[in-house]
Amino acid sequence: MPRIYIGLVLIGIALSVVLLAAAPQPADAPVGLGNTTNGLIDQATYDSDKDQFAEVEDVSKGIGPLFNDVSCANCHNDAGTVGAGSQNKELRVAYFRNGAFVNPDITLPSGEVVRNRSLVDLRSTCAEAHQSAPEDTNVRAFRLSLPVLGDGFIEAIPDAAIQAFRDRQCQTSRGRICGLAIQVGILEAAGQTGVGRFGWKAQHRSLLSFSADAYLNEMGVTSPLLPSEVATTCNTLDPNTPNSQDDIDSFAQFMRATIAPGPDPLLLARPQAQAGARVFQRSGCAFCHFPNWQTAASGTSINGGTFTVPDALANKTIHPYSDFLLHDVGTGDGIVQNGGDASRNRLRTPPLWGLRIRTIFMHDGNSATLTDAIRRHRGEAAASAQNFQRLSPQEEAWLFAFLRSL
Ligand code: HEC
Ligand code: HEC
Repeated sequence: MPRIYIGLVLIGIALSVVLLAAAPQPADAPVGLGNTTNGLIDQATYDSDKDQFAEVEDVSKGIGPLFNDVSCANCHNDAGTVGAGSQNKELRVAYFRNGAFVNPDITLPSGEVVRNRSLVDLRSTCAEAHQSAPEDTNVRAFRLSLPVLGDGFIEAIPDAAIQAFRDRQCQTSRGRICGLAIQVGILEAAGQTGVGRFGWKAQHRSLLSFSADAYLNEMGVTSPLLPSEVATTCNTLDPNTPNSQDDIDSFAQFMRATIAPGPDPLLLARPQAQAGARVFQRSGCAFCHFPNWQTAASGTSINGGTFTVPDALANKTIHPYSDFLLHDVGTGDGIVQNGGDASRNRLRTPPLWGLRIRTIFMHDGNSATLTDAIRRHRGEAAASAQNFQRLSPQEEAWLFAFLRSL
């Protein structure tokens, strides 16, 4: 056995022991797929928030002038479950000049200039507003849509828990695997920040902030949190009157009320999958795809004091298989969002819960098989990827049986 392999196995076991021995684990959060509330709100309220999330908007409701799609659920819906992922991708472009990342200014056919924005919306409500990537941009990145299921539990993980995990990760791996926890602004708590955890770049800490961001940037609809239109060309609504707060409140409440995507119990119970879970652990995958997290106690104030963790989300053990940290695993997309220059070529470890209903993988959706996705791991995950290459065909099959049960 090569030294690095043994080293990683030992470190992996040490890390799990350190992290698991801390305290008795609280009860598991409710898991599964389907359109069921986790108890944060009653089922009727959940259904009505879900309808808001799935409502198809048009120009009269504020869509555009620049947009990617016309409802949240058009990009977040799969396997009969509103809030799951989808195949939809979006485009970001930028410049990397003299060692510095620069967002582009994009001139629309109307002559209007959309300033300082890497997102290129793929659609518009009129030809004069249609965006295209400037020919001279030298950074291009596609981003696959992410599931939002169970995100209320992730939001309820204390900032300090993610930071403490990060410190132990760096120590136990002697700096070889050392994620970045970034402080990001919370739109609903002006001037306040928290540890980012949502999006491929961990660009948000709060689901309400993400809702306002997605409403504006994916759909072109303003809100009191982000009141300015991205472009005025062909905008038919009064630019001084943002859309109401109600919509983004419903989106955030819907996402907070989703149950966590749990494993298929029958598939996970199979001996192959159980053996695969051990291969996963032994190969060092759990270093970043960490299975066990606890949410904060009921009544804990988060998101800069704007949200109090309610009973339904509090004191729960969840199994997201992520550390919510940004890592350089050799696939960096060169885009800087809220994480500063150090985040340019890092991506957040994607949670692996719900993997069995995903078909294409990685931030760009360019991997069609798990083998492809795992083989692309380099950089901080190089040792792990080498461990994967050394697995016997049988061990590999076990690993896939495990991953496909999640
Ligand atoms: C055009 C497709 C599209 C639409 C429409 C869309 N999203 Fe997304 N969503 C994405 C993509 C792509 C990502 C990953 C983006 C990234 O990280 O760069 C994402 C990520 C998210 C995340 C982060 C999930 C996580 O766990 O990390 C949340 C939350 C979210 N979207 C909420 C919404 C809400 C709310 C709406 C409606 C207002 C919406 N989205 C509309 C494509 C879309
Ligand atoms: C150093 C941290 C790290 C380690 C170790 C690691 N991963 Fe990852 N993993 C990541 C990051 C970061 C990504 C996202 C990369 C991207 O999108 O370009 C990722 C992506 C993935 C994906 C794609 C998930 C999706 O939804 O698209 C799978 C599957 C995966 N990893 C499995 C594994 C397995 C199996 C191992 C062990 C052999 C492993 N990873 C080891 C950090 C890690």
